[in-house]
Amino acid sequence: MSENRIIYGTKTRHSKKIAEAIGRAFNIIPCNINSEPVIKETDILFIVGGIYGGNSLPELLKFVHNLEGNNVRGAVLITSCAAKKQGQDSIRSILEDKGIPVIDEILCQGSFLFMKMGHPNKTDITEAVNFAVSIAQGAIK
Ligand SMILES: Cc1cc2nc3c(=O)[nH]c(=O)nc-3n(C[C@H](O)[C@H](O)[C@H](O)COP(=O)(O)O)c2cc1C
Repeated sequence: MSENRIIYGTKTRHSKKIAEAIGRAFNIIPCNINSEPVIKETDILFIVGGIYGGNSLPELLKFVHNLEGNNVRGAVLITSCAAKKQGQDSIRSILEDKGIPVIDEILCQGSFLFMKMGHPNKTDITEAVNFAVSIAQGAIK
């Protein structure tokens, strides 16, 4: 039986907070990629991560690179960033090369030093949770 999974990579814990909120909505424990989770048969893989100097964390890129394409039916990107301009483009490209469709992506307001301080706040996190839930509901056939 397949199920949904949530993984995250984080530098300043925003992605952890978001992943845990989504996890509570689905009753799933999210996994930090540093704990090297093994991804078996998965319906939707939620990938939560920030943007640093325009790119994703190298550890997260490596993790996605090592995914077994046949095990994941689709991925959803939950992207935490200060500028809210750029998604997890490198992650998307690795997934597509593996034949894992990217179902959708949401940019969640993060912060960087004094830029957008206080984000992600409760509203940002609720928005990400609602997005994840609506995708999962839409994916149920
Ligand atoms: C070193 C560093 C570089 C960052 N560079 C960018 C960037 O290029 N673009 C952007 O939109 N946000 C940038 N940010 C903001 C982060 O993407 C944002 O705070 C995100 O929520 C961090 O997620 P995390 O707490 O899970 O690590 C940067 C943050 C840090 C700490």
